[in-house]
Amino acid sequence: MALLEVDDIDVAYGNVQVIWNVSLSVDEGETVALLGANGAGKTTVLKTVCGDLAPTAGEIRYRGESVGDWTQEEVIADGVVHVPEGREIFPASSVEENLELGSYVDRSGMDERMEQVYDVFPRLEERRGQAAGTLSGGEQQMLAIGRGLMSDPDLLLLDEASLGLAPVLVDDVFEAIERINEQGTTVLLVEQDIYNALRVADRGYVLKSGHIELSGTAAELAGDERVEESYLGA
Ligand SMILES: Nc1ncnc2c1ncn2[C@@H]1O[C@H](COP(=O)(O)OP(=O)(O)OP(=O)(O)O)[C@@H](O)[C@H]1O
Ligand SMILES: [Mg+2]
Repeated sequence: MALLEVDDIDVAYGNVQVIWNVSLSVDEGETVALLGANGAGKTTVLKTVCGDLAPTAGEIRYRGESVGDWTQEEVIADGVVHVPEGREIFPASSVEENLELGSYVDRSGMDERMEQVYDVFPRLEERRGQAAGTLSGGEQQMLAIGRGLMSDPDLLLLDEASLGLAPVLVDDVFEAIERINEQGTTVLLVEQDIYNALRVADRGYVLKSGHIELSGTAAELAGDERVEESYLGA
C-alpha cells in the first residue's frame, strides 16, 4: 500500500510556478530516489510533502488521507521526518543533546532509540559529549540524520544527505540509509549522487525543470542514459 501519494501537484513561490503536475508514490518499506539537476525542484517537492509549502493544485495523501493543512507538529506526530538540505544542528549543544532534541515530541523510548542511532553511526557515539559545531561536516550530516531518527519516523525525507562529503563518508551515509530502511523506515531521498542513490533505492523519479521526466525501478533508471542527460541541464 502507498504510504505517501503525491497526486498531480503544482507548487509556486509567490507567483512563480516551479513544479508542474508532479505525481509520485512511495510504498511502505520502500526506498525511493528523487533525482534531477540543480534547480529541478527536488527540494521544493520535499518541502511540499512535509508541509513547509502548500501546493497550488493537486493533493498529497499520507496513509490514504489528504494532508492539505498539516502543521509541523502533525507531520512529526504522524511519523514523518524531514532532514533538510544543509546541516541544521545546534552547534553549541553536544551531540547527545542534539539527539535528545530530536525526541522532543515523544520522549518515551528515547534511550533505546539513541542506542539505535549510535548503532547506525558509531562515530556519533565516540563524540557524544562533543559540541556539535566542532564535528566535521560529514559527522554533522550524520548527526542531522540521527536526530531525525530520534522520533522513530515511519517516513524519512532526506535532502542531499551525501552532499559535500568525502567518498568514504558518502559510503557510510548510504550504508546507514540502507540500515535505516532495513529497520522498517520508509525513505524518500533527494540526491545528486545518481549512482549511490539508485544502488540503495527500489525505485526512482527524475525531475527536470519542475516536471517528472522519467520514472522506473532503480535498475531501469541505472541503465537509462537519459537519467545522466537530465543532469546536464535543461
Ligand atoms: N524561496 C524561493 N523563492 C523563489 N524561488 C525559489 C525558492 N526556492 C527555490 N526556488 C526556485 O525553485 C526552483 C527549484 O528549486 P529547488 O530548490 O527545489 O531545486 P533542487 O532540485 O532542490 O536544486 P538543488 O539540486 O540545487 O538543491 C529553482 O528555480 C529555484 O530558483
Ligand atoms: Mg535542493
